[in-house]
Amino acid sequence: MDVEIAPGVSMPLLGFGTWEMRGKEAQNAVAHALEVGYRHLDTARMYRNETEVGRALAASGLSRREVFVTTKMWPDRAGSERTSIEESLEALGLEQVDLWLIHWPPGGARPDVWERFLEAQTDGRARAVGVSNYSVAQLDELNEATGTLPAVNQIEWGPALYDARLLEEHRRRGVQLEGYSPLKTTDLRNRRLVEIADAHGVTPAQVVIRWHLEHEIVVIPKSANADRIAQNADVFGFSLDEDEVAALDALGSGARRD
Ligand code: A2P
Repeated sequence: MDVEIAPGVSMPLLGFGTWEMRGKEAQNAVAHALEVGYRHLDTARMYRNETEVGRALAASGLSRREVFVTTKMWPDRAGSERTSIEESLEALGLEQVDLWLIHWPPGGARPDVWERFLEAQTDGRARAVGVSNYSVAQLDELNEATGTLPAVNQIEWGPALYDARLLEEHRRRGVQLEGYSPLKTTDLRNRRLVEIADAHGVTPAQVVIRWHLEHEIVVIPKSANADRIAQNADVFGFSLDEDEVAALDALGSGARRD
């Protein structure tokens, strides 16, 4: 299951999150993720694991085009965008990333930073560019200043943070919503969630991941555990019906802060 985030740029809805993993743990987890079928890796300069992500990718034997790679620039590098992407590419051992994100608004929307991200795309260092942790008003500010919206906004998301209006605002603008912390933000023992999982013979975590796919929201569950890495990718053998999706949507009763 993929979504087109820019002309000719196809992004798998399921990705592997790597936040809080470093060194050998990160490298082994990514290697295992690629083995069990993930074709999308999410890292960031700030995670300090780009080298290990790159090593696991190189060792996988997969061709570069088969795996979608995202990295992010930490906001304190605003003004040094070119150096920042060069450092990321060097660490990853790649000539180009598929998606490069501004990790957090650098003290505001910062259209000047966005302009330089667009330049990195033109230069071929990133196939697509986007942002993370931006509000809809900040997306609009970038658009007003440059005429170009981010391809993606990666924000904290999950059933407990579900906000139909926020999703719709992204959709209307053609900005792909990508969720992070899908499991961390969810009470995996929630009664309704457990019932739905039992009905499908899967785990609550798998239901949460599948729920994102039903909404066509990119989801990047993280795990350092081999069994859970595989389990989280095993979400294409069942689907949730409208009532189940609605029941999970209802867990997000206005809890969002943004
Ligand atoms: P672990 O790495 O030991 O598997 P998120 O993706 O929302 O950031 O969540 C990551 C957290 O959820 C980690 O603590 C991870 O622990 C845990 N986790 C990952 N997969 C599962 C799963 N299938 N069931 C329960 N917990 C999980």
